Amino acid sequence: MEGTVAFDRAAVERLLSGTEDQSLLRFLTCGSVDDGKSTLIGRLLHDSKRLFEDQLLTLERDSRKWGTTGGDIDFALLVDGLEAEREQGITIDVAYRFFATDRRKFIVADTPGHEQYTRNMATGASTADLAVLLVDSRQGILTQTRRHAYIVSLLGIRHVVLAVNKIDLVDYSEARFDEIVAAFEELTAELGFATKVAIPLSARFGDNVIAPSPNLSWYRGPALLDYLETIDVTADEAGKPFRFPVQWVSRPNHDFRGYAGTVAGGSIAVGDEIAVAASGQKAKVARLVTMDGDLPDASVHQAVTITLDREVDASRGDILVAADGRPQVSDQIAAHIIWMSDEALLPGRPYLLKTATRTVGATVSELKHRVDVQSFQPLAAKTLNLNDIGVANLSLAEPIAFDPYDDNRTTGSFILIDRFSNATAAAGMFRFGLRRATNIHRQALTVDKSARADAKGQKPAILWFTGLSGAGKSTVANLVEEKLHLMGCHTYLLDGDNIRHGLNRDLGFTDADRVENIRRVGEVAKLFVDAGTIVLVSFISPFRSERAMARELVGEGEFIEVFVDVPLAVAESRDPKGLYKKAREGGIKNFTGIDSPYEPPTAPDIHLDAAAEAPDALAERVLAYLVSRGYAGSHRR
Ligand code: ADX
Repeated sequence: MEGTVAFDRAAVERLLSGTEDQSLLRFLTCGSVDDGKSTLIGRLLHDSKRLFEDQLLTLERDSRKWGTTGGDIDFALLVDGLEAEREQGITIDVAYRFFATDRRKFIVADTPGHEQYTRNMATGASTADLAVLLVDSRQGILTQTRRHAYIVSLLGIRHVVLAVNKIDLVDYSEARFDEIVAAFEELTAELGFATKVAIPLSARFGDNVIAPSPNLSWYRGPALLDYLETIDVTADEAGKPFRFPVQWVSRPNHDFRGYAGTVAGGSIAVGDEIAVAASGQKAKVARLVTMDGDLPDASVHQAVTITLDREVDASRGDILVAADGRPQVSDQIAAHIIWMSDEALLPGRPYLLKTATRTVGATVSELKHRVDVQSFQPLAAKTLNLNDIGVANLSLAEPIAFDPYDDNRTTGSFILIDRFSNATAAAGMFRFGLRRATNIHRQALTVDKSARADAKGQKPAILWFTGLSGAGKSTVANLVEEKLHLMGCHTYLLDGDNIRHGLNRDLGFTDADRVENIRRVGEVAKLFVDAGTIVLVSFISPFRSERAMARELVGEGEFIEVFVDVPLAVAESRDPKGLYKKAREGGIKNFTGIDSPYEPPTAPDIHLDAAAEAPDALAERVLAYLVSRGYAGSHRR
C-alpha cells in the first residue's frame, strides 16, 4: 500500500510494548463521509513529523495522480489505503495507525464514515480510550453523529472530543461553533461521558489541529493535538479489581509453575491474595516474573508470569482475580449485542460465545429489544440485522466468569461466532448475570435411561426425518413406525403438522419461529430418548444449525438424520396439500423451497432418494439400518 502509513494492530502493539517512558493514548475517529476525517488524521500524522521521507514523496506523487486539492498535498490520501476508498469515496474497514510526538504515543483507529458500518466502528472502539467525533461546521450535528456518540458510549469510551471541522467554510464563526456545541451538549447529556470538549478546527488548512490559529482568536481552549497529548485517561483504570486471564501455564521444570498473561484490570503485588475466578480457590502471589527480571507489582496492560505460594487448579482459560473482588459467574447473562452478520440473529439458534479466555456454546434465549440509535429508545424486535444493536438474555452451555462491561472491557466483552461459517456474527458486552436458573439443580433419578431402554430391549434413538414439504417424510416415518411396532419396539412419532396444533401452536414460519419449532421438538425428542423410546421426528427442519443442535442434545449414536431427498420440482408436482400452488400464487409467505431456504444435510446418516423409490422400499432401508446397528430386532414379544 504505497503512500499510506497503515500498520496492523499486532505490529503496533509489539512496537509499543516495552517502552514505558511515554504514555500511550488509543483513540478512535468517527465521522460521516465528507467530514474530513481522513484529512484530519493525515494532518496529525504529517504535522507530528513522524512520516518517513519516502512516504511523503509517494504521497506527493499520489496527490497529483488522485488528489482533489489541486497542487496541494491531499492528506486524505495518506490515510485512505484502500483503492476502494479512492475510487468510491468510502473506507470499508478499520485501519490502525501509529504516530508519536515528544509527549505521547498514539494509536488511531480510523473507522469508516459510511453510516452502515457500525460493526467496523465497534471493532475500532473496543480498545480506545477516547473518541474524536467529527462534524462539518456547515452541517452541524447529524443523525450519524448521534449514532456514533451512542456507540462510543455503549463501548465504554469515557472521553469524547467533538472536532468541529471545516470552520474556515463558515468564516471561522464563533456563533456557529456555539450553536453546534449547544446541540452536542444536548445530544450527549444522557450518555455518561467523563469528559467532553468541542474544538473548532480546519483539517484542510491546519487551523487549531497542531497549534492555535490566529483565525480562531476567539477560541481559548487547546488545539486538538495539545489536548490529545495532555488528557489524562488513567483515572478510569484506578481502583479496579485485579483481573488476569491465564493465557498459558508455564512449566519449564518441576519447581516452576507460572501463569502467563496480561493484566486486564487493576494491579497486583507480590503477597497479594488472588482467587481462581470460577472455582474460588485462593493463593498468594509469590513472584511476578518478566523477561527483564522480577517485578514487585504489575498493573493493567502489563504482561507477566505469576507464580503462587501454593498449588491451585488453574489452566488456560481461567481468570485469576483479586480474592476480595471476584467477578460474576453465571450461565444466564444479560448483554448488549451489536449484530455484525448479513444473516439475521435467530433467538434459540446455537452460536459459539468467545470471551478473552473461553469459548462455550450459547444461544440468545430472549431478545429484549433493539435500540434505535437515533433516539436511543428501545424498539420491539424479534431479530437483529446487520449493524443493529440490541439487548438480549444469553444462555450458555456452562457457567463462565465475567464482569459487567462497564467494569472491565476485557472480561466484559465477547463475540458470537456462527458455528458453520466460523464468521463473527456479533460483538457483545455483558451487563449482568441473571439469577433465574441458578437455584435449580438437576434431580438425580434412580431409574435411568439405560434401565428404561433395557426393559424395552432396544437402543433408544431419535430418527430425524428432514426434507421439503411433500418429500414424503411423514409417509415414510409412519411406515417405519408401523414396522418397528410390529417388531415389538417402543416408538413414538412426532410429526410437524401435529405438533404445530398443540405444543407449537404459537409458532409460524419465519426463520425465528422455525428455529424455536425445532428447538422445542428437539427437547421433546430428547425426553423420549431418555424414556428409552425410538422416537421418529418428521419436520422440514430446514436449517443445519438447528439439526446440529438437536443432535447435540443426545448422546453419540442416538441421533440418526434421515434425509428424505426429492428435487423441489418433484415435491411441487406432488403438492399433496396444494400448498406449493398457493405459495406460488403468493397466498402463503415464507414457504420452504419457494421463498424460504432449505439447507440439505451435508452428511446424513441415511440418505433416501424419495423421487426414485416408493415409500415402502424407503422405510425398509431405514429399518435395515436400525436392525444392522442393533437399535431394534432383539425383541421379546
Ligand atoms: S419447519 O420448517 O418448522 O420444520 P414443520 O415441519 O414444522 O416446518 O411444518 C411444515 C408443514 O407446515 C408443512 O408440511 C406444511 O404442511 C405446513 N406449512 C404451512 N405453511 C408453510 C410454510 N410457509 N413453509 C413450509 N411449510 C408450511
